[in-house]
Amino acid sequence: MNILDEINIRNARPSDHENVVSVMPDWWGGRDLSSSVLKVFFIHFNKTTYVAEIKDDLVGFLVGFLSQSEENAGYIHFAGVHPHYREAGIGRLLFQRFYGVCKSNRRSIVRSCTSPINKLSINFHQRMGFIIEPGDGIVDGVPVTLNYLRKNDPKVLFRKELDR
Ligand SMILES: CC(C)(COP(=O)(O)OP(=O)(O)OC[C@H]1O[C@@H](n2cnc3c(N)ncnc32)[C@H](O)[C@@H]1OP(=O)(O)O)[C@@H](O)C(=O)NCCC(=O)NCCS
Repeated sequence: MNILDEINIRNARPSDHENVVSVMPDWWGGRDLSSSVLKVFFIHFNKTTYVAEIKDDLVGFLVGFLSQSEENAGYIHFAGVHPHYREAGIGRLLFQRFYGVCKSNRRSIVRSCTSPINKLSINFHQRMGFIIEPGDGIVDGVPVTLNYLRKNDPKVLFRKELDR
């Protein structure tokens, strides 16, 4: 049976937060970025925040929101897939769910960012049809924006135009 047939994607609930942050260091190869995934997303942004499950086990999540500053854009804050279930299409499925909510809210641009050391994420976004914004610096040959989320923390900024 195809793994994707077993996946259930649903809107996140506040009670999912603890489980999601507990798996993040493992899913990010030892980097602990869990303090950036606040419970408030699971409380107040649950129409754009999802978990993917097989039976009742967490195998993926996406935390996103509709931009208030850019009325045509949605923003993916974090997304992750359980290492045992990668490259099977779960990340794509989560992103597509987010594209759907963007389109139904008349948003045609999806934005996201990652650290230049996260080559996996850069490759994934490019395969998903995101382009890298020019930015104001270069790290490891990749265009970055130097002070995007905080000072001296370069980020690779992604943008994708959704099909109408
Ligand atoms: C990035 C991540 C979410 C991708 O999830 P996934 O379920 O493995 O992705 P999918 O199987 O849906 O892959 C979608 C596309 O990306 C490609 N892709 C996925 N992982 C890749 C990799 N490591 N290198 C190159 N391409 C990759 C797939 O081949 C596929 O492209 P294709 O359909 O054209 O063949 C997952 O690897 C992950 O959780 N990484 C750690 C957390 C992280 O860095 N998240 C970054 C987003 S904030």
